[in-house]
Amino acid sequence: MQEAVQICDLTFSYGNIQVLRKLNFSLQEGEWIGIQGANGAGKSTFLHLLLGLKRADSGEILLFGQDVEKFTDWEWVSFVSQSSFSRRTQFPASVEEIVSMPLQWRRKKRLLSKENMKREVKRALRLVQMEDFIHRQLNQLSGGQVQRVQLAQALAGHPKLILLDEPTTGLDKETTAELDHLFEGLRRRREESGLVISHDLHWLKSSVDSVYTLDKGVLERL
Ligand SMILES: Nc1ncnc2c1ncn2[C@@H]1O[C@H](COP(=O)(O)OP(=O)(O)O)[C@@H](O)[C@H]1O
Ligand SMILES: [Mg+2]
Repeated sequence: MQEAVQICDLTFSYGNIQVLRKLNFSLQEGEWIGIQGANGAGKSTFLHLLLGLKRADSGEILLFGQDVEKFTDWEWVSFVSQSSFSRRTQFPASVEEIVSMPLQWRRKKRLLSKENMKREVKRALRLVQMEDFIHRQLNQLSGGQVQRVQLAQALAGHPKLILLDEPTTGLDKETTAELDHLFEGLRRRREESGLVISHDLHWLKSSVDSVYTLDKGVLERL
């Protein structure tokens, strides 16, 4: 099986403050890994480096065997940022519009028909058990439902790697437990690999295959 992510001796600093130190990590295709760390540990920075949004001081980041700086298959990767998980639900859009966003470029290039786009949106919504909400406005949903819609957006278009930054932000205990259940279903399919970032160790342990902690710039497997 190929490695979705492989990281070797990654070091990153903001100015003279070192946030990540000689970090090594790998994620196999189909595997779901969680990274736990306190606020400010460098978790979001780590994801931004993986996405090529920041440049490492030194070390190597490979996505599906290709150097992140030369990587072009970004349609294989989906990312839900920390701020979009905690975003208020006032954004004026329907569930269908939100979930179809990552598919729009294929539609524009005529690589995807309108019917197939709709089918794909429905498939993604079915995976998060939100199919019946396709015509709802986002501001008519509960926090947990919005989270599910974000996940459906991340799943639309069959990505190979899903990066989620703090998906339980703002959720109560029951809704967080519902998300566990959902992740279990996704993991069992083994169709995507996932990297889930959270400050909540307890939740991560029940939601992914293995958990690492990020502390003082060092990643350690629990
Ligand atoms: N653009 C930036 N410039 C300088 N320091 C930053 C910047 N972004 C984040 N930091 C600092 O880097 C550390 C890691 O931040 P971050 O990756 O957001 O942590 P986490 O996501 O684990 O809460 C924190 O101490 C934060 O204050
Ligand atoms: Mg963060």
